[in-house]
Amino acid sequence: YRRLRVALLGAGAVGSQVADLLLRHGDELADRAGARLELAGIAVRDVDAPRDVDLPRELFTTDAESLITGADIVIELMGGIEPARSHILLGLGSGADVVTANKALLATHGPEVFEAADRVGASVYYEAAAAGAIPIIRPLRDSLAGDRVVRISGIVNGTTNYILDRMDSEGADFADVLADAQRLGYAEADPTADVEAYDAAQKAAILASLAFHTTVPLEAVHREGITSITADMIEEARSAGFVIKLLAVCERLQESTGESISVRVYPALVPRSHPLAAVHGANNAVFVEAEAAGSLMFYGAGAGGVQTASAVLGDVVSAARRHMAGGTGVGESTRANLPIVSIGHVTTRY
Ligand code: NDP
Ligand code: HSE
Repeated sequence: YRRLRVALLGAGAVGSQVADLLLRHGDELADRAGARLELAGIAVRDVDAPRDVDLPRELFTTDAESLITGADIVIELMGGIEPARSHILLGLGSGADVVTANKALLATHGPEVFEAADRVGASVYYEAAAAGAIPIIRPLRDSLAGDRVVRISGIVNGTTNYILDRMDSEGADFADVLADAQRLGYAEADPTADVEAYDAAQKAAILASLAFHTTVPLEAVHREGITSITADMIEEARSAGFVIKLLAVCERLQESTGESISVRVYPALVPRSHPLAAVHGANNAVFVEAEAAGSLMFYGAGAGGVQTASAVLGDVVSAARRHMAGGTGVGESTRANLPIVSIGHVTTRY
């Protein structure tokens, strides 16, 4: 097989698992990709920091730029805006395809990144940027491209689902459960992103952009987190037959003036008989309603290092196949430009 040089940026909860799988499953991945995926190096802040898995010390570097230059595929798993944004742009500019799980970056700088890719005929893959291991980006972008999505509703943040679930089932304390979610690798580097629903809002913006073939800016997403949810509220909901879940709802609205889009994230009262009420732990579930297809449900691990690594590696194989086929950029279709309305009131029932 021809060798493709893979530059990995980040070896945290997700990156360390991606490196481990790339090294352990090299032969199998080569067969699937049609190319040997050679891990050229791993850029981190501290080359001596302890890792979740044992990885060869000589792969680590703090010189991300040198690693990126000359790579065929750049996997960005650092998170945050900078230096992730600059590294991705450098990779695209050097002719690499990019795989990223960075929803914070895509929800704020997505158009810049996709335009940079289009300019050079490269591709950006981001299956792990929404709902962890669950395949939802490709279904929305590719499988449903011939349909009209009317609504997406779901649980898209593993940390908050884990917290709310344990508060509901065990009466656990918010702070204790958040600490567990951090230890298990579900939470963002700054867990405020999870509990204040910034993370879910970023994912909602990405999913709505794909579903409605437009660009939904993060500022247009109505956002309410779970920090004000108390044990008493959870108990009250329970006695009324509900469970509190952080939901992301993206929908087309038909109004007298025409069609528009609403995207919102809020803690909702979900009837205990509803399938979303049965989503436990760090799992996620995404319901998609489309005009022709009807209702589709996607369910699985929404967070976690190795689970998310599955989605990342799927993207790496796709990038390698495209590379070997000498393909051109996939590009993002953002032509519909539907107006977006921000619903600013608290919706309590789903
Ligand atoms: P971590 O915080 O666990 O790891 C981040 C890694 O990036 C670390 O290895 C860190 O280096 C490195 N890094 C960060 N900043 C820099 C920098 N300035 N220069 C060099 N290296 C840097 O993050 P996760 O693995 O949890 O998340 C990675 C990405 O995946 C994020 O975008 C996140 O949103 C996304 N994601 C995470 C999921 C999860 O369940 N954790 C699920 C889905 C997506 P060092 O180790 O030396 O500090
Ligand atoms: N912190 C995120 C979550 C990681 O808890 O869902 C997955 O995107």
